[in-house]
Amino acid sequence: MNPYYILDTIAISNGVHKPFDCTDCHSSEYKAYPHKSELKLQPLSNCLDCHGGDASFAKYKFEEIEKEFKKSVHYKVYGENFNCSKCHSQHTYVATARNSNNVLDIVDYNNKMCLSCHNDMKKYKLVSGHENPKLVVIHDWLPNQELHFRHVRCIECHTEVKDSLMVSHNILSKDHAVKKCAECHSANSKLKASLYKYQNLQKRSENGTISSILTNSSYTIGTHQSPLLKLLSIVIFIAVLTGIIIHSLFRIFKKKN
Ligand code: HEC
Ligand code: HEC
Ligand code: HEC
Ligand code: HEC
Ligand code: HEC
Ligand code: HEC
Repeated sequence: MNPYYILDTIAISNGVHKPFDCTDCHSSEYKAYPHKSELKLQPLSNCLDCHGGDASFAKYKFEEIEKEFKKSVHYKVYGENFNCSKCHSQHTYVATARNSNNVLDIVDYNNKMCLSCHNDMKKYKLVSGHENPKLVVIHDWLPNQELHFRHVRCIECHTEVKDSLMVSHNILSKDHAVKKCAECHSANSKLKASLYKYQNLQKRSENGTISSILTNSSYTIGTHQSPLLKLLSIVIFIAVLTGIIIHSLFRIFKKKN
């Protein structure tokens, strides 16, 4: 069988659409075997068909996401042939960034959505008709590439941050991608407005790394603070201060004499 037709039933039972039967979305004629081949051509509902204008899903802002998506490189090049389902499997999607409280899990889940195509020669070619550029080569200007791809999402560098949306959907062309290290590795990091902004993350780590990044204006990403060094610097500071005080006292006493 075509490997893309083998579905992960565990992932389906964890997904947002777990209450659905297959035939709620697909034709009920699929119950007959072998399936009629023309069923393949039947149009399927997209996210907005079901979620558009529905107040119970308002917090996800489907309409605004669609508007942003329509500005993205993918839509500009492929139009309606590139739909939401190219990234979001309706079978297995889980709203991860909104609900997970682990940065590494969020990054992993999100990046897999992009890599499922950008790292899959067949799938990429099916969409574009040409070979996929090798991601490792394109990004070889980035040191510790593997570490970065585990700690930041592709969308951190490839989208314009939109405050009103939980997840920015406007993927910009490559000449607008973030290349400057200081966009993240600075006290005023871009990540504060994107990856680290989620309340679900902040709540969990009251005194963890995330909240110290957010509250400490001089914290720089990638420079982990060592508690031992911090203690040592305080000890040195107090020692210097005591030295100055004793020195001044001696000078005052000497003058009096
Ligand atoms: C919430 C709606 C929904 C449900 C429920 C659903 N599907 Fe799908 N399915 C889709 C959509 C949409 C696509 C087209 C994906 C695309 O455009 O890439 C699809 C595609 C497929 C494909 C083609 C392979 C692929 O992933 O593109 C197969 C096979 C399939 N579904 C089987 C199933 C089976 C079996 C079930 C029940 C366990 C099921 N589907 C439940 C929406 C659904
Ligand atoms: C056939 C209609 C249909 C389609 C198509 C569909 N959804 Fe849904 N979706 C639903 C329904 C109904 C629920 C509520 C399921 C439940 O009650 O658990 C839901 C639930 C969700 C949820 C969880 C909402 C919550 O707060 O629990 C998200 C997120 C979501 N869908 C995203 C999407 C995305 C993204 C797409 C397109 C890739 C999509 N849906 C396509 C009908 C649909
Ligand atoms: C280029 C890939 C891509 C496309 C195309 C795409 N999305 Fe997304 N979308 C993502 C990623 C990545 C996330 C973050 C996943 C996560 O952690 O929940 C996301 C998250 C979402 C969420 C959850 C946001 C939240 O507040 O929790 C919704 C809803 C959504 N997308 C809807 C859509 C709709 C509707 C479309 C089509 C108009 C679409 N997406 C097209 C990549 C994409
Ligand atoms: C640290 C920032 C950063 C991260 C993280 C990042 N990229 Fe990039 N990416 C760039 C920059 C900058 C360029 C432009 C490079 C150039 O033109 O030399 C680029 C180029 C690209 C291109 C264009 C390829 C071409 O030449 O046609 C694609 C596709 C791409 N990235 C996908 C991804 C994917 C998928 C991920 C996640 C796995 C990702 N990027 C993560 C910064 C990043
Ligand atoms: C279903 C396949 C697919 C998925 C999923 C996908 N892309 Fe793409 N992407 C493409 C194709 C095909 C192109 C080439 C467009 C072109 O020919 O200019 C592209 C182009 C790009 C470019 C380069 C634009 C340029 O200027 O050349 C970037 C950056 C990019 N994608 C980032 C992402 C990110 C980030 C994600 C995940 C959120 C993602 N893509 C998900 C297929 C995909
Ligand atoms: C999109 C944001 C982003 C950009 C852009 C970025 N980085 Fe990073 N970088 C990170 C994150 C997040 C980590 C993980 C650090 C952590 O967990 O504290 C990291 C880690 C590192 C580390 C390892 C530090 C350690 O603690 O081991 C080095 C070295 C590094 N980056 C250098 C660079 C350089 C050089 C550039 C520019 C060419 C760059 N980074 C661009 C976000 C970024």
